[in-house]
Amino acid sequence: MIDLRSDTTTRPSQAMREAMMSAEVGDDVYREDPTVNRLEETAAQVTGKEAALFVSSGSMGNLLSLYINGGRGNEILTYRNSHIMLHEVASPTVIAGVLPIGLDAPRGILEPDTLASHLHPSDYTTSSVSLIEVENTMDGTCYPHKILKDIRALADENDLKVHMDGARLFNAVVAQKVAPSEICQYADTVSFCLSKGLGAPAGSMLCGSNEFIKKALKIRKMLGGGMRQIGILAAAGVYALEHNIDRLTEDHLHAGEIAQALDQCSWAVVDPSQIETNIIFFSTVGITAAKAVAKLGEQGILCFATGKHEIRMVTHLDISAADVLQCSRVIKDLI
Ligand SMILES: Cc1ncc(COP(=O)(O)O)c(C=O)c1O
Repeated sequence: MIDLRSDTTTRPSQAMREAMMSAEVGDDVYREDPTVNRLEETAAQVTGKEAALFVSSGSMGNLLSLYINGGRGNEILTYRNSHIMLHEVASPTVIAGVLPIGLDAPRGILEPDTLASHLHPSDYTTSSVSLIEVENTMDGTCYPHKILKDIRALADENDLKVHMDGARLFNAVVAQKVAPSEICQYADTVSFCLSKGLGAPAGSMLCGSNEFIKKALKIRKMLGGGMRQIGILAAAGVYALEHNIDRLTEDHLHAGEIAQALDQCSWAVVDPSQIETNIIFFSTVGITAAKAVAKLGEQGILCFATGKHEIRMVTHLDISAADVLQCSRVIKDLI
């Protein structure tokens, strides 16, 4: 099967497994795992933050930031279809105790004016906004730097924190050809996933100030996220950061090629110019998304229907150039 459901389906390569096998380990709850420490130092350095913490998942990274910098009883502003709104089992509300306000945004990119219009004075009857959450990439779309800069300025004027859900931060990095720290400078805290396009089996990094990471370490333990000899997993993360960033451009090229194939057939509508990274969204015509997904499945292509007439395909490390050719053939001959 050619699995285009998500870049979370990547499997660790032989070389990554070997790095995991030979990892030096210690008790990370005692902060004595040298491989975890190395991974955290690298993540902090790469994002330009003072410190970083290895966490079990992207959801855990987002939750810790909302818990600490959102604060119980406060509002946080985000895009209405962001990952924290739709796919984190209401943890921002249930655990962090924040009230997420989901805003409309073109292609999911929050506009500073829209954010500003949701700030309001607070008295003893109202909650107030404490944090802005941006997702980058947002379903494959990169945040323009000018917008991030303006969001930072708005946050500073209003004493707000900014958290970046950078599950796919490095896709934005290679697409925009900038250093990760250039993107991350606009956020107080950034989480990025090792287990998506970077190909590690698990784990995310949460990056921020020393003071923030000290708090995050404690809340991670409180939530049951303190693990012991996880240098084995951290070694996969170190390997991913050393070997799997630059090659993300290949995934982007593959996504572009699939979008071109879709653009040439009658049952799909897509704008290839909007495919910036590794995620393709397109609409179906004359066939429901569910039916098209089933037909593609019969031909060995896995993907998700995300609406009645909307399909998502994601390219990644385990999709080869030959897979892309095969996929393009199937797409053209599907109906
Ligand atoms: C944008 C985004 N943020 C956060 C997450 C959460 O990551 P995890 O599955 O590791 O909790 C995902 C996972 O798909 C994601 O796509």
